[in-house]
Amino acid sequence: MSATAAPAAVTVLELRDVFAGYGEADVLRGVSLAVGQGSIVTLLGANGAGKTTLMRVASGLLAPRSGAVLVEDEDVTARSAQQRARAGVCLIPEGRGVFRSLSVRDNLELFRPPWAERSSIERVMEIFPILGRRLEQAAGTMSGGEQQMLALARAFLSEARIVLVDEVSMGLAPKLVDQIFEILTTIASEGVAILLVEQYVRRALEIADHVCVLGRGEIVLSGTTDQISHVDVAGAYLT
Ligand SMILES: Nc1ncnc2c1ncn2[C@@H]1O[C@H](COP(=O)(O)OP(=O)(O)OP(=O)(O)O)[C@@H](O)[C@H]1O
Ligand SMILES: [Mg+2]
Repeated sequence: MSATAAPAAVTVLELRDVFAGYGEADVLRGVSLAVGQGSIVTLLGANGAGKTTLMRVASGLLAPRSGAVLVEDEDVTARSAQQRARAGVCLIPEGRGVFRSLSVRDNLELFRPPWAERSSIERVMEIFPILGRRLEQAAGTMSGGEQQMLALARAFLSEARIVLVDEVSMGLAPKLVDQIFEILTTIASEGVAILLVEQYVRRALEIADHVCVLGRGEIVLSGTTDQISHVDVAGAYLT
């Protein structure tokens, strides 16, 4: 089976035959995938399948043992996480990644890197009105959903080309998950590529253009969401 989800649009992020892991063990074994401009690729897989590991390889937090990571056709495998951030890679990590003791305003200011010229906190407040009402509140005292909104604001403020979103819906009420998915759709409609790790298969299939399922370190199922149903995905989980 083809291991590559090849979107029609310009490819923003590509992983080519990536092997990566911790210590002796390989968690990813020959993983290839591509995310096109303006498209959402959902990465599914059981707990421990290696989804977060793949996000870490893509964002430069973990060096692969072999294989390559490309951003807009440029090989960035040897580049640091910070250099990749500058190239437009934005990781929204599992567990939210906000500075809990700082105010919302200070978090937003820290998320806005020096090279981001066009992004503004005003724009973020239009997209996330809830943040505008809580600018002086300590981020750690906001609800889980509000903190997730704040974490996602980073994608706008960093002027990302590819946003890596790890388990954005974890522990959130369905209504909030809907709001967050709507925001992800807005981000994609502006031409940004999104790689989304998600546990809710049906929802993930609704929002995404492409889906990849990771199993035992390899992509075991890959294709467009027109071609792949949740039944196929369930089958892939069991392989
Ligand atoms: N820092 C680490 N050192 C050693 N092993 C690790 C480390 N991080 C993850 N692993 C192992 O790598 C494997 C893949 O972990 P990973 O976090 O990528 O899975 P995941 O698909 O994101 O799972 P989940 O759905 O539970 O978030 C697991 O067996 C995990 O125990
Ligand atoms: Mg994970």
